[in-house]
Amino acid sequence: MPRWKNLLDRRGTGTHYADRLHRILGVCRDCGLLWHNERIAQRDGRTEVRRVDDIAPTERVVVTPRDEKYGLQVNPRVLKRLVTLGPQFAYALNVPDVSVEVDGNIVYVRVPRPEAEQTDTLLYQDAWDAAPDIPVGSLLLGIDEEQHQLVLELVAPTNVHAAVIGMTGSGKSTLMRTMILSAQMIGGAQVALFDPSGGFEPLSGHPSVWRGGLFRAPDACEAGLRVLAETIGRRHGGLTYVFIDEVPELVMQRPRIKDYLARLTQAGRHAGLHVVLGAQHPLARDLGPTTMRNVPVRLVGRVADRSAAYNATGRNDSGAESLRGRGDFVAVNGSQRQRFQAAMVPPSLLQEWRRRYPPRAVRLPASAAGAVSPPQVTRSGGRSLDDIPPFVVHEIRRYHARHGRLPSSNWVYRYTRSRLPTGGFGRAKAERALQAAQGSLESRIAGT
Ligand SMILES: Nc1ncnc2c1ncn2[C@@H]1O[C@H](COP(=O)(O)OP(=O)(O)OP(=O)(O)O)[C@@H](O)[C@H]1O
Ligand SMILES: [Mg+2]
Repeated sequence: MPRWKNLLDRRGTGTHYADRLHRILGVCRDCGLLWHNERIAQRDGRTEVRRVDDIAPTERVVVTPRDEKYGLQVNPRVLKRLVTLGPQFAYALNVPDVSVEVDGNIVYVRVPRPEAEQTDTLLYQDAWDAAPDIPVGSLLLGIDEEQHQLVLELVAPTNVHAAVIGMTGSGKSTLMRTMILSAQMIGGAQVALFDPSGGFEPLSGHPSVWRGGLFRAPDACEAGLRVLAETIGRRHGGLTYVFIDEVPELVMQRPRIKDYLARLTQAGRHAGLHVVLGAQHPLARDLGPTTMRNVPVRLVGRVADRSAAYNATGRNDSGAESLRGRGDFVAVNGSQRQRFQAAMVPPSLLQEWRRRYPPRAVRLPASAAGAVSPPQVTRSGGRSLDDIPPFVVHEIRRYHARHGRLPSSNWVYRYTRSRLPTGGFGRAKAERALQAAQGSLESRIAGT
């Protein structure tokens, strides 16, 4: 049996758990929530008073590496009051903190275990061994609270792209390394690695790595992301995962990266590109709300407070504010939520990977080998068009291919308004975008 099973597959049955459950039910009783009397009219006209239970414990207590979870079956009429009882439960159990979570028709009273009792780190090998036949298109995350291996099927149409968000030390880079290594072990996909902090470096020598190495310096990252963004619509590549850590820092240093990420998240999946972004705070401020709407999966680690939890997950009942760091995560997509312990690739395995696949220098795109400059499209007047994102030009060219003529500047306005957080292009800028598209069409026709 894999080691994690011994660690995690503990169902609380001892007196400790029975005692705690008893105390939890005691609080419910003292608050008058445990049951109520109902008057029932009989056929013969008499009425009878019957006791109806409103709260009943589920059969088992779930013990995870970090918590004990006491499940309660609850009548909806008492739900609203029950979820406010965290402090009373904490007092009755003599622990500093208890959270109450609703999950479907079960309410969990989650009691953190003392640090000293918390079991060891969940190692990558153990999470992998739990079910080593992960299909191409999915990435390993860790183990969920039901003690099952948790993978993220990134190619599913409702997933597509993901953001890993949490405070420093929450375990983002660690989780992303687990995802990257799983992609390499599963095979059938390329991984493109962007990381100014260098945390992906031990995994960057594997043959699956796009352009043979890690994009690290901000200008190299900009050039690499530009090339990826430009491949969209040109070719149907195979499956490629694009991992980018420290996104806010990269965008701050190279603002154009924001446009490339907008393009990649908007249309990347048509070219087999799936993006995983890492950041310490929710990215709407850095990338704009439109881009973040195209990133439906949020893997959220420890965050500062409730409002940070809301911003990171887009929902106010994610429970992310009670995550405790070191790989304690919740996966959120729309109304779905799954808490999990992220697996960690230990230093020994990173070392081993590095020895087998020594990291090499990344092959930079040609235009980036010297000074990295954005694609400068100029017209005869010499005015720079570099403020026009390549995907706009590309979309105009697609319109041309479909209709045999260029769109109107009104069309450009409407299109850019729906795609760019900065708003639609005015007439002059739309004209310039049209000219850029025309220029590239002409040069393509001329075969240059
Ligand atoms: N899954 C995990 N299991 C156990 N420990 C972990 C896990 N993830 C992270 N840690 C611990 O937390 C430390 C910080 O992790 P990591 O570097 O991944 O954080 P981060 O979120 O990327 O932080 P930063 O934002 O500063 O880059 C690690 O060195 C490790 O000791
Ligand atoms: Mg990090």
